[in-house]
Parts: sequence; structure tokens; C-alpha cells
Amino acid sequence: MNISDSERVRSVLERIGYVWTDNEEEANLLGILACSVRQKPIDKVYNKISQWNRWKNKRNLVTFISGCILPTDKERFLKLFDLIFSMSELSQLPAMIRDYGVVTPGALDSSVTAMPANENIFQLWDVKPNYQSDFEAYVPIQNGCDKFCTYCAVPYTRGREVSRPSQEIIDEVAHLAARGYKSITLLGQNVNSYGLDKKGEEITFPELLRAIGEAGNKLQQKFWLYFTSPHPSDMTREVIEVISQYDCLAKQIHLPLQSGDDRMLIKMKRSHDLQKYREIVQDIRQLIPQATLFTDIIVGFTSETEEAFQNTVEAFQEFKFNMAYIAKYSPRPGAASYRWEDDVTNDEKKGRYQRLTLVLKRHAYRYNQSLVNKEMEILVTGKDRKGQYLQGLTEGKIITRIESLDESLIGKIVPAKIISAADFSLTAQLA
Ligand code: 5AD
Ligand code: SF4
Repeated sequence: MNISDSERVRSVLERIGYVWTDNEEEANLLGILACSVRQKPIDKVYNKISQWNRWKNKRNLVTFISGCILPTDKERFLKLFDLIFSMSELSQLPAMIRDYGVVTPGALDSSVTAMPANENIFQLWDVKPNYQSDFEAYVPIQNGCDKFCTYCAVPYTRGREVSRPSQEIIDEVAHLAARGYKSITLLGQNVNSYGLDKKGEEITFPELLRAIGEAGNKLQQKFWLYFTSPHPSDMTREVIEVISQYDCLAKQIHLPLQSGDDRMLIKMKRSHDLQKYREIVQDIRQLIPQATLFTDIIVGFTSETEEAFQNTVEAFQEFKFNMAYIAKYSPRPGAASYRWEDDVTNDEKKGRYQRLTLVLKRHAYRYNQSLVNKEMEILVTGKDRKGQYLQGLTEGKIITRIESLDESLIGKIVPAKIISAADFSLTAQLA
């Protein structure tokens, strides 16, 4: 979501004449799109701004902050940053910079157009993003969340659910696919309640997927369409059926479970229980047997006992996730659980994180091992960290190292034979 928002911020700044630099130390304007889901990234924001404010003694520098900010941090950020705005006010950023007394680089250039006034998120979506990649793109379909899980900051930072008009989404996806984008991800806090805020005036999430599937069938270009994240309580069999019916709808599902213990799920106000999750997974295995399954888990939530944690371990044994983003519970000011005692010690959280990771590794490895000697399609995304191989992703988003250094393949989907497997990755040779 932040990558997607930052592509729109960048596009607005470029319209008023700013030029991107990779070198933080030479920039005249520096900003952060914050994430408030956990405390750690917010701590990093405080470190960053104190460094930037020190730099101000030596040179001209304007700082801004936006993104997901909780009210308590907002008050402190007001004193630390020069500019603060919410994403829905993005088109006012040029005026804010001007009012701050900075002559923007494009001010003397008549070709630089003024931005229209902006009151809500619709205009944010109207801002054409400056995509950072020419083969991977993110398309926001919805902003905000009405679920109010007790641990979560999102409803307080992004507000209520608003769906973007479906025609805009379908057009943007078709446009990207026609331009050769290979991996396109629909974004929202709760994608499968898409359209429900419009009470019958908008299509539903499975209908949106179907429309994209139909558009994909008409295009000559191959692409994989992903979405993140759906909520189990809104995940219908229809969604899974539609994914099974269209080639361009990627066979990878990210379905946050959060906990494998029903008492914890109630305390988290997740509005689904383990049985509901189980039924969805059964539908996925039946209708899209080749699909990979990813999840999100919080360990050490308030009052999570060893027994409750063991139920999450058992859920991992049952569902055999390919990947899980496991987070240690972090109390968020304003969220309902902030008032409850954070009674699982950090050491215990760490221990549970490590034990769960071991279970995850075992199943992910077994799955990866089953792919050895198979030919698969890989989207080549770049070179690996050491620069010795190409790196890419399978349709199921398993990281794959390819024994080649042919950089002309970056951004393409290529056939490759899997020759070995590790816990969370594969090695392949070009077929
Ligand atoms: N503490 C730890 N993890 C959290 N998440 C959301 N809120 C918290 C929190 N307070 C995790 C959830 C969610 C993911 C985006 O972040 O697992 O799915
Ligand atoms: Fe947060 Fe729950 Fe909404 Fe996800 S569904 S954004 S965890 S409140």
C-alpha cells in the first residue's frame, strides 16, 4: 500500500518540477509514508526525523510525513516535520510546499500544471502514479477498514471502507497488462468486501475478478493478477471459483488467519473461527489444488496461553502454509487492545515466533521439494543479492533463483526447470 501511495506522491512532486534522487544526503525535500501497524516502524520514523533535523543546520531541507499515522503520533510529528498531510490531501501538497515558502523547481515553468483541489480519496486515485517498475504494479481498489479487529491501527489511520469505482480499476489493470506488466496486485485492507459500501450500486469482489479475467482473456499479453488482503469472513466460494476459471487470476492466495485458537480469534474480534477458515482452505484445495497459501499471524496477543499458541501450531500443521508473515503482538494506541495488559513477555513472543517459523519451514520445504524436476514459469524480477544469478517468482510467489545472468530476461515470464529446493526458495535452470 505504501509503495502504491508513494508512486502517487512521486508523480505529484514530479509535476511541480522535483527530480528523484537515490541519495538521501543530496535531497532538498525528504518525506516518509509511515506505517502504524506495529511500533517498530514508527520508532524508525522518530530516528529518521531527528537525523534530518540535524542536517537542517547545514543545508536547506524541507521534510514531510504522510501515510498511516495514529493521532498520538500526529501531534508529535506536527512539531518535528515541516509538512504533514493525509493521502486524501495529496493534491494540496504543491500548495503546502509553496505556502511553506519554498519556490518549487517547476514554478517558473509554464508546462508544469496546477493540481486540482482535492477533498477525498477519489482524487488520490485519480492521480496517475509514477510506477517504479515496468513489470510489477499495485492497483488500489479500496481504502480503509470497517472491521475493527481489536489489535489493529488501520481503522483509526485510514478510516472507513471506501471502494474505488470498478470501471477505473478494470481500465487500469487492462492498461497495465496491455503495456506488458506481468504482476499486478489489487490492494485494499479488506479486498473481498469490495463494493459493499456502495449498497448495490457497485459490483462485488468476485464480479470484479471476473471482469478482470474476461479483460485478460481478450488480451494477447500474459500476466498474473494478485490481490491482498482478503478477510476470511468475507471469503466466499464464488471468489475461489472465479480464480479457478481464469488463467490471468494468479493461483496464490494470501488469507490472514491471525491465530489458530478460537478464543483468541474472538478476543481479536476477527468474526471468523477456525472452522470457517478450514472450510475456505478446503474449497481452495478442491477448486485450485495448485494454489499456494500465505497467511498472517500474530503471536503473543494479550492473554495468549501456551495452549492457545499450540492451537496455532496445529493450524500450521493442518493448512501447510507456503509462507506466513508472523508478527509479535505490538500494542497500538487507540486500538481496543491497547487498554489490555500486554501480558506475554517479549522473550515468550520471540520463542513462539521461532517455534512457529520452524513448523512453517518444514511444510514450505516439503512443498518446494515436490516441485523439483518440474518445469514452471518464472517471472524474472532482477538479480539476486550477490549478483550471481537471476531471481524471480513463480506464479505461487515462491522465490526462485535462476542459473543465468541474462539481464534481458528481467520483467519477462520464462519457462524454467526446478533443480533444487530450500525452505523458502527454489533454484531453477532456464528450460
Ligand atoms: N501487532 C502485531 N501485528 C499486527 N498486525 C496488525 N496489527 C498488529 C499489531 N498490533 C499484523 C496482522 C496483519 C498484518 C498486516 O499486520 O497480522 O494481518
Ligand atoms: Fe486491521 Fe482487521 Fe481491518 Fe485487517 S480486517 S485492516 S486486521 S481491522
